[in-house]
Amino acid sequence: MKIAVYPGSFDPPTNGHTEIVFRSSKIFSKIIISITDNHNKKPTFTVEERKKMLEESIKHLPNVKVDIFSGLLVDYVKSKKASIVIRGLRAVSDFEYEFQLALMNRKFSKDIETVFFIPDEKYTYLSSSLIREIASLGGNVEDMVPKPVFKKIKEKYPKQKCLQKK
Ligand code: PNS
Repeated sequence: MKIAVYPGSFDPPTNGHTEIVFRSSKIFSKIIISITDNHNKKPTFTVEERKKMLEESIKHLPNVKVDIFSGLLVDYVKSKKASIVIRGLRAVSDFEYEFQLALMNRKFSKDIETVFFIPDEKYTYLSSSLIREIASLGGNVEDMVPKPVFKKIKEKYPKQKCLQKK
């Protein structure tokens, strides 16, 4: 049984994230989407809000669960008896950071492999930070995030309501 952890901030989750989850759920026996509870960052959505949004967005995938973690990723991965870390690679610009992250994690644990998934090209321009910026300025992000995430965004940014499609 191959258990894989898909870690990230998911602040908020995007269609790009859920597509990576879908692709990886066809390959690994179990996927744990793991939201970092890193107190150094000031997130827009609380970890509980992000967990709920993700759970609602992936509920049709029986081998996917959502969890929250703090501390080092490698320690968390081992505690879940997992051996794979999933990351998405959208463009060359992601590569440098992902390369550094994967090699640093390998330095701490030789038994954990990082596996990269490339999202559909229509999601390559999506990022959580752009979604937050666009939503806060009243731009419509309905097509860019799963339905449960859009619902939460509308609560957080009331300006979204006027821009909603019918
Ligand atoms: O969505 P993000 O912000 O790109 O995800 C980054 C994340 C959560 C995968 C990374 O910051 C992480 O693994 N944090 C946990 C703490 C840790 O292990 N840091 C060292 C990584 S080499």
